[in-house]
Amino acid sequence: MVAGGRELIAAALATLGLILFLNLLPAERCETIPMVIDSAGSRPLAVGSESPSSFGPVSSSPYGDGEPMPPPPPRSDEHAAVSPRSSYRPAPKLMAVGIITAPTHFDRRLWIRQKLRVSDARRRGIRVLFVLGVRNRMTPAQRLAIRHEENAHGDVVFVGARDWVPHAVAEKSLAWWEHAAAHLPGYRWYMKTDDDSLAHLPRLEMDLALMSSMGRSHYYYGVMTWRAWTPFHTEADAACGERGDDGPSLDGPSARLERLMLDRRPGGACSRAVGPFPFADGSLQILSDDLMRAFVESPLARNFSRSHLSRQGPPYWTHEDAGVGYLIFHSAILQTLPLTYVVLSPWKHNKFWINWFPRHNPSLPDEHVVNTHKVVTSMMAQIAQDAYENSTYAADPFVCVDCAKTWGWRGGFETSVGRFPIERVACCNKRTDA
Ligand SMILES: *[C@@H]1O[C@H](CO)[C@@H](O)[C@H](O)[C@H]1NC(C)=O
Ligand SMILES: *[C@@H]1O[C@H](CO)[C@@H](O)[C@H](O)[C@H]1NC(C)=O
Repeated sequence: MVAGGRELIAAALATLGLILFLNLLPAERCETIPMVIDSAGSRPLAVGSESPSSFGPVSSSPYGDGEPMPPPPPRSDEHAAVSPRSSYRPAPKLMAVGIITAPTHFDRRLWIRQKLRVSDARRRGIRVLFVLGVRNRMTPAQRLAIRHEENAHGDVVFVGARDWVPHAVAEKSLAWWEHAAAHLPGYRWYMKTDDDSLAHLPRLEMDLALMSSMGRSHYYYGVMTWRAWTPFHTEADAACGERGDDGPSLDGPSARLERLMLDRRPGGACSRAVGPFPFADGSLQILSDDLMRAFVESPLARNFSRSHLSRQGPPYWTHEDAGVGYLIFHSAILQTLPLTYVVLSPWKHNKFWINWFPRHNPSLPDEHVVNTHKVVTSMMAQIAQDAYENSTYAADPFVCVDCAKTWGWRGGFETSVGRFPIERVACCNKRTDA
């Protein structure tokens, strides 16, 4: 009890210090920071060989080369008393996390800040931000409440999307990537999740380090399933052919993928579509900086956004995650991107809901899980958090396989908008048998 009380007081004082500190910080810089390029070509360097601006020991400015360091925070006595041993170190920029939320979801943001330990995470270079639409219909009371929340935590961003439409989640998700590209430069990784999910950040950080050590670029990480999609369709939800839950797996090709490839042949039901391609489930998407920029800053994505994010009537764009997977795939065609698909296994690495029954096989986070979905009460958040902390992360390794042989991804590469550069692509899974 005593220790808990001390921790609470310490947290409160730390928050106070942070608020004072944030008020003195200049607004987030918007300049683009040059990427670390190695001599072999366009690949970012692996962890350990990074310039000190991305990874500690952080003596140089986190705002990029040539940028002055922000003024040191005011060293209030309280702050010094809380952490006598730590001297001020600016955070490195490892990952920016956008959590799509709604104006009224105060309670979810409250437990997410607690469970993700966002202040600790920030010291490790992870910036957690809650994403709302700038075009909203908040009441004056809601607006005031959000302003208080924003003043207290400094972690709410308003992106260029509508917040009152039924499909606001889709619009805010694409607008989050646009916001990140324009206003949050310099992170190595960018993530999108929703406020009904609870990830475990230290576990994700281990996966980021594992990915960096692969020495590739253009990483796309998440639980994935197959889709085909018709480009430039008048309808925003332009998926073509079968939809289902099977994705790229070490267990071999799925029958659905075979059928999608057949549909894509000349004369087939989806001959005008592109794909099939894997796309990451919207509950957890992580992109490396280079891929995030390549897709979101492309004329293709800009046009998609312009055409669909302000539609006045249906059909609206609701199929957010497949749409992003499509834009990434189409961008790879146009820019010959060396994509690195890193595929988690559904249920093994991402629980789509939690349940403590049946007793012998509960659906709770265990040593393999990095994300839990459908966490919608504080009690579920506590149970998920306890379960994470009750197990030591197994950090199942990634294994890259032959796209054709293991995944069965053998066709559909010739499309009406160009050829998908499959020979440059890495097909990787997080192992399930470890
Ligand atoms: C932009 O997108 C719309 C809707 O998908 C499409 O009709 C149009 O051809 C696209 N324009 C360009 C220049 O790609
Ligand atoms: C922690 O794990 C043990 C052993 O698997 C289990 O019996 C216990 O219920 C778990 N506790 C929580 C809080 O998840």
